[in-house]
Amino acid sequence: MSAEVIYGKQLAEDLRQEMKEEVSDLHHRGIRPKLVVVIIGEDPASMSYVKGKQRASEKVGMDSDLIELSEDTSEKELLDLISRLNKDESVHGILVQLPVPDHISDQKIIEAIDPRKDVDGFHPENVGKMLTGQDTFFPCTPYGILVMLNRVNITLEGKHVVIVGRSNLVGKPVGQLLLNENATVTHCHSRTKDLQSHTKKADILIVAAGKPSLITGEDIKEGAVVIDVGVNRVDGKLTGDVDFESAKEVASHITPVPKGVGPMTITMLLHNTIKAAKRIHN
Ligand code: GUN
Repeated sequence: MSAEVIYGKQLAEDLRQEMKEEVSDLHHRGIRPKLVVVIIGEDPASMSYVKGKQRASEKVGMDSDLIELSEDTSEKELLDLISRLNKDESVHGILVQLPVPDHISDQKIIEAIDPRKDVDGFHPENVGKMLTGQDTFFPCTPYGILVMLNRVNITLEGKHVVIVGRSNLVGKPVGQLLLNENATVTHCHSRTKDLQSHTKKADILIVAAGKPSLITGEDIKEGAVVIDVGVNRVDGKLTGDVDFESAKEVASHITPVPKGVGPMTITMLLHNTIKAAKRIHN
């Protein structure tokens, strides 16, 4: 068997085409959705991510600003900037690229962003709303995975979803979102004993551990859906957390790296920014 490859990139392009029309409609109503991305320091990977976010915003016709701050920016300076952006009515979405330098508390920064402008869905108020099944901004990577599974008609109700990785950005929230869809969810992590005994039981296996080739075909149940969230650079080449070649012989569906989950993350950021603009003006 060779799995059907789920190209998030193609789906992302389709969704962004729809968003372009939505943004244009909003412009006609005098609403200009605007995203502000803040980056501290010059980490090349983070810089490449934020440039991608900004380019994508502009491509759908959205206003976007990139604020680049030096590595030695103080926590107070960053909090003051967020306070100004919170008050600025032309700004609908605020994203501070993580990680921030060690002398700044990422949690303090997340909590300083107005929850109505928290297009990352990281603010505790929005996390709480997601946990209790309310409408809110969902974190972009988990939300992108949910949309991708829906688009390829994968039923979630009653399915056993196994997640490898328990980060606040991906592992924990994706489990919650899929639990809200009535899946049965198991969370695995670096201290899990006998990882394979869990992954082998998954109908849907989501891997977000940051370890190249952590999962191979031998760890996957025949016919499982495999979602690879890993972004690792090995010998200059981007690879996921799943060994694609062996996994695709066992899985029914699999996402590649690149062109899989990554483009969906940015697309859901655009979705959340449009949602923020519509909410503020309604
Ligand atoms: N760093 C890596 N992924 C993300 C993300 O989705 N949002 C933010 N703010 N920082 C990140």
